[in-house]
Amino acid sequence: MDHLRQLCREILAQADSIAVLTGAGISAESGIPTFRGAGGLWRSHRAEDLATPQGFARDPKLVWEWYDWRRAFIAQAEPNAGHRALAALQSQHANFTLITQNVDGLHDRAGSTGALKVHGDVWTVRCTVCHREREDRRAPLPELPPRCACGGMERPGVVWFGESLPQDVWIRAEQTARRASVLLVIGTSAVVYPAAGLVGLAKSAGARVIEINLEETPVSSIVDVCWRGPAAEILPRLVS
Ligand code: OAD
Repeated sequence: MDHLRQLCREILAQADSIAVLTGAGISAESGIPTFRGAGGLWRSHRAEDLATPQGFARDPKLVWEWYDWRRAFIAQAEPNAGHRALAALQSQHANFTLITQNVDGLHDRAGSTGALKVHGDVWTVRCTVCHREREDRRAPLPELPPRCACGGMERPGVVWFGESLPQDVWIRAEQTARRASVLLVIGTSAVVYPAAGLVGLAKSAGARVIEINLEETPVSSIVDVCWRGPAAEILPRLVS
């Protein structure tokens, strides 16, 4: 493992611009379940009921109960050494952008700034009528579904299956991937598009790509370095 550490540190030291793409795996060691692995949320819950606009239209209370449970769960979790290492890496590099598929806000709590949250943020809610977005960190929420000041029903400020990503955030994520000299891909199964497409985009634009994951993924074959193991153990070794 020492040769991997040295190789990755050299790649990072030579980088003009660093991009990072994270997925649920980076929060696994904070005790937050991932989506697809053993114990993953989509193994025991139906995504079509809980994470689609159709599911929300059918039963908004059920969807909100699930998000309320997740919010409470996430609220009691703490950022781990992997989140903190990425915040430290950002402080060492002027040209650094974090792109995350995670909605848990743990990168922010670890000290990362300006994260591009391509799948939204579980701590924001959005009115289904006037579309006003606001932050609400109460967990549990006092009323489900929550209501906007205009009286409209609010929804979680996250991206569901079948929905477009927030356009401004996505444009910046694509630009980041295209301009990066190094991309770290951490704890994502790389099966959900368009986010997973950022790996191929960065690679074809000339980035060196380092994957950190417990397992092989569909992008493992195109990356330059695969480092297998828990993100919370590997990432501190890259920055210290
Ligand atoms: P997944 O649950 O699909 O994948 C998690 C990945 O993390 C897997 O490849 C695991 O091998 C890896 N992993 C688990 N524990 C790890 C650890 N300690 N260290 C390193 N790697 C670890 O999660 P995502 O790829 O994030 O979308 O899923 C993508 C999207 O699908 C999510 O953003 C969510 C979900 O449906 C929305 O909510 C829109």
